[in-house]
Amino acid sequence: MVNWIEVDTYAREWIKEAGERIRKTFTQKLDITTKSDKNDLVTNVDKETEQYFIEKIRSTYNDHKILGEEGYGDKPTTIDGIVWIIDPIDGTMNFVHQKRNFMISIGIYENGVGILGYIYDVVHNELFYGKKGEGVFFQGKPVPKLEEVSLEEAVLGLNPTWVTENRRIDYSILTPLVKRAHGTRSYGSAALEIAYVAMGWMDAYITLRLSPWDYAAGKILIEELGGKATTLSGKPLSMLEGSSVFISKPGLHEELLENYLKEFKE
Ligand code: IPD
Ligand code: CA
Ligand code: CA
Ligand code: CA
Repeated sequence: MVNWIEVDTYAREWIKEAGERIRKTFTQKLDITTKSDKNDLVTNVDKETEQYFIEKIRSTYNDHKILGEEGYGDKPTTIDGIVWIIDPIDGTMNFVHQKRNFMISIGIYENGVGILGYIYDVVHNELFYGKKGEGVFFQGKPVPKLEEVSLEEAVLGLNPTWVTENRRIDYSILTPLVKRAHGTRSYGSAALEIAYVAMGWMDAYITLRLSPWDYAAGKILIEELGGKATTLSGKPLSMLEGSSVFISKPGLHEELLENYLKEFKE
């Protein structure tokens, strides 16, 4: 039997300490390199933070597996057992340019089921936390269930680049969606945007391509609150492979899938 109270206690302790370490780097010069393209940044702090978590997890739970963005984990091929899915800094572009609007994101899964989710706002020292069956908490206070909302009342999180021409979905479908919404926002950190939907600060978040570490924690929070977390064509999200991502309040999820997103080609 897994002692989830103990796992939760350690996870919180490590996240707080990792946050402190990241804040201390604000006055230091970053070592910045690129990955897949010129906009895909990684810093020494992303790498060191992931290594910090891996060292802690491995020395405490040697039977747990780790999937981390920067590749220092186990590269699991199945989701069996306990798997920690870690994005050490979600929003590296923001971390580099703004020193704000970035998150530590950790989802802990048991045989593919999300049990504990943490999205930690390092700058504000604020924790969005969810536990399967026990609710979602922001700064220790319970977060209410998500209620239905119409598109006209909704604020949508989306990346402006995908409303330009692209091969996966006709922008003539996306233009009315953006026009009809009450407003749109783009914060540059998937974990932050999913946490904001959980809090009701936004109503949906839509993005063409993410990896499991971007949404592993957020999915737990959203589903615990009665929201929906799927791909853009309504399929379940995988914790081993990336896909498009559509996070939403109930009701709005069905409305957008049916009227706007169903033509999306994965
Ligand atoms: C990125 C952020 C961004 C999203 C990108 C992600 P990273 O994560 O979540 O908002 O649009 O697709 O890769 O690289 O900063 O951890
Ligand atoms: Ca990255
Ligand atoms: Ca990320
Ligand atoms: Ca990252």
